[in-house]
This record gives sequence, C-alpha cells and structure tokens, in this order.
Amino acid sequence: MRKKIVAGNWKMNNNKSETTDLIESLKKLTFSSQVRVMISPAFTHLAQAKEMTSESHLEVAAQNMNASKSGAFTGEISASMLQSIGVNLVILGHSERRAYYNDSDLALKGKVTAALNNDMEIIFCFGEQLSDRKSNNHFDVVKSQISAGLFDLNSKAWSKIILAYEPVWAIGTGETATPDQAQEMHAYIRSIIAKKYDHSLADAVSILYGGSVKPANASAIFSQRDVDGGLIGGAALKADDFYAIIQSA
Ligand code: 13P
Repeated sequence: MRKKIVAGNWKMNNNKSETTDLIESLKKLTFSSQVRVMISPAFTHLAQAKEMTSESHLEVAAQNMNASKSGAFTGEISASMLQSIGVNLVILGHSERRAYYNDSDLALKGKVTAALNNDMEIIFCFGEQLSDRKSNNHFDVVKSQISAGLFDLNSKAWSKIILAYEPVWAIGTGETATPDQAQEMHAYIRSIIAKKYDHSLADAVSILYGGSVKPANASAIFSQRDVDGGLIGGAALKADDFYAIIQSA
C-alpha cells in the first residue's frame, strides 16, 4: 500500500524568522502516521529546519542540488553537503528550474545519479506546458521527461523515487487540473512504468500532483486512485492551509 505524501515546496520564500514561525506552527499540529509530511525551505534554512524538526515527523527536503561531488561551482550545493546536515530528500526537475536554470533532461539525469549515489530520496518533477496540452501532446511530453530522467535506473533504485506531476499551466495560476485530468495522467504514468519495468514497481511508486492545490480542491484530487498526495507551493506557506491539505490526503 502506497503511503500518502504531502510536500510543501516553499520556493524562494521565507526569511529565517518566517521559517522559524512556520515550522513552529506546523510542529504544533498532529498528523496521521499514514501521511508523510515534507517541507522544503531555502538552502539557507535547511540546517535550522532539520534541527527544529528532529523530534517531529516532518521531513525536510532540499529544492535542488548540483550533480558534482565538489569543486569550482560557485553558488552550488552538493548532495554530500545536504547529507552532512541530515537532509536525505531532494526535489529535482521542478519546472521553474527547468525553465530558468537550465535543468535539462541531461542535467537532471546527472543530478538523479548523484542523489542516488548519496542514498538520497528524490521527488522528481515533470509536467507539460499549456501549449502541449492544447496540442494534445501532454502524454508524450511527460513520457519523454520521465524516460530521460529515470528510465536508465534499475528497479531497485526506484524505491528512492517519488514522482510529482506538475502541469506548468497549473502552477501558481489558481487553475488546477481537474481530478479527472490528474487521474488520467497519473494512470498513464503508472502504465508507462509498468511497461518499462513491471506492475508491482509501478504500483509501488508514489505519484504526487502539484499545481494550485488548495484546501478547497485537495480532497477531490487526492481521492483519485492513482494520486498519492501533492506537492504544494503557495498554500504550503500558510500553516492552516497546509494542514487542511494534509488532512485531505
Ligand atoms: P502552487 O501550489 O503555488 O501552484 O505551486 C505548485 C508547485 O510548483 C509546487 O512545486
């Protein structure tokens, strides 16, 4: 049985005191042990977030990392640096990174390898643009992003992979995929994994939906058969909203 996951992607939001306040608020809440709850503050606050959550079951994820072990990569953060502060989870391939920071399929493949070499768990993001959906190309785009980033992995490595389908047209726009659209894509994703690997592996992979998930729409989306929770942007910055979304999982 796949566990539900609700992950908050804080993006480039929250200074130190705002980070402290939000984590304090989240720590006061009680969560079902059936749901994994993750937060991903900015790099500057990851160590603090780890310390603050050490007694809670909040998990802490980084929003990105570099594929190289170390070296002359000004401004970058390596997997072993994250590991050294106890961060074992990383979001890779977010559409904002793909669009603005050259996270190409090839670059992401390197990051996936580096994360797995460091025994890290990955939330691997992908999703189509509005133009892809309008031209009915969305399944092909998603397939090509998943296969480029992940289909060279052996079956065992998939125990470290969480998928996040985030249609770009739904991110930060207030427009969500309908529950049916989400279910249709998630079922498709599972089918291509089953074809490439096998059904038991496809059934075991958690597939999150992301894109304008709010308290008002979370349960309709999360109740779909192949939707295992969500990757939440804006609504993860408000403890009450995030809590309501967690409770919908
Ligand atoms: P919003 O929930 O703000 O649309 O952002 C989704 C997202 O990009 C999460 O990674």
